Formats: sequence, C-alpha cells, structure tokens
Amino acid sequence: MRDLYADIDYVLLSTEQIRSRTAEMAEELAQAYQDSEEVMFLCVLKGGYVFMSDLSRACKFPHTIEFMAVSSYGDATHSSGAVQILLDLQKDISNRDVLIIEDIVDTGLTLSYMRDNLLARQPKSLRICSLLSKPSRHKVDVPIDFLGFEVPDEFVVGYGLDFAQIYRNFPFIAVLKPEVFGG
Ligand code: IMP
Repeated sequence: MRDLYADIDYVLLSTEQIRSRTAEMAEELAQAYQDSEEVMFLCVLKGGYVFMSDLSRACKFPHTIEFMAVSSYGDATHSSGAVQILLDLQKDISNRDVLIIEDIVDTGLTLSYMRDNLLARQPKSLRICSLLSKPSRHKVDVPIDFLGFEVPDEFVVGYGLDFAQIYRNFPFIAVLKPEVFGG
C-alpha cells in the first residue's frame, strides 16, 4: 500500500496548534454556555467527526452528541451550493441549546442551508462552531460563533477533512502536492 504522507506538500496547522486552540475553544464554550444546563453538540458528518471528538473531550460541561450527514453537490474540491441531507437528526431540538460542529466553512452554503433548516425546528439557541474558515471564499454570510482558525484559499486535508474520501486520518491539517489533484 502506498504511503499517504508522501502526498503532503506542507503542514498548515500542526497537531499541537490544533490541540491548544481546541482547549481554548472549550473554555470559550464554557463561558458562552455558563447559564445553560446542557448543550447539544450537533456534528456535521463526515468532516466534523475528529474535531467533535477532541472538542467534546476538552469540554467539562454537560453536553450530548448528535449527528447529521449532509453532502454538497459539486466536484471534488468545489461545492456547487446544493445541499442534500443524507442523515437527519432524529431528536427534537425545540427548547434545546444546539451547537453545530463543522470542520470548515468554505463558501458557507452548507452551513447556511443547515442553519435555516434547523432554525425552523425552533431550538432555544443555535450557534456554530467551526474548526476552520476560508474567509476569502465565503459566498454567503454565516455567523460563525466559535472559530478555530482562518485559513487561506487552499484545499486542505486531515483532521477529518478529506480529498476523495481519504486523508481524514492525518492528525494535522495539510496541503497536498498539486500532482495529487491530477493537475
Ligand atoms: P461550503 O462550501 O462552506 O458549503 O463547504 C462544504 C463542505 O466542503 C465542507 O463542509 C467540507 O466538507 C468541504 N470542504 C470545503 N473546503 C474544503 C477543503 O479545503 N478541504 C476539504 N473539504 C473541504
């Protein structure tokens, strides 16, 4: 089997940078939800699973874990903006404090769709926590309440983020060599 690490051009965010920022974000969440009894962490699959897992373990306040899977149509590295719900939330979120956990806000179209869809179910509060954001690519204005890092307009992989469904296992965020994209 080939070595995935040979495809890396450079590491953009190290394991330690992510760990330390995640710990800070857990503190920010504890502050923001200090008057709340329980928070529902809603992980957006697939990309959000690694961040969700580490963030959840860094938090000391009560929270439940739920999942939603969405897919945005488009080619391998560019989303078209059309969103399909592949796995919907089974729980009633009315009167709950819901925190969406995302891997990355790129155009913002996925989160914008999810936000509208979830707001219609009348949660007590709905906030967004994303590990990464690419501000230069945002097409719609989505309020990111808690953000790990801003990244440049590069296609990044690792820590849950994939290219063609692989590289999610890298314990850091990396940029791949141009030839990996077939260009
Ligand atoms: P959106 O453009 O904000 O709707 O992002 C849609 C989804 O595309 C994100 O949730 C990611 O799963 C994926 N995505 C966007 N940018 C990247 C990237 O740089 N690497 C890997 N996946 C990405």
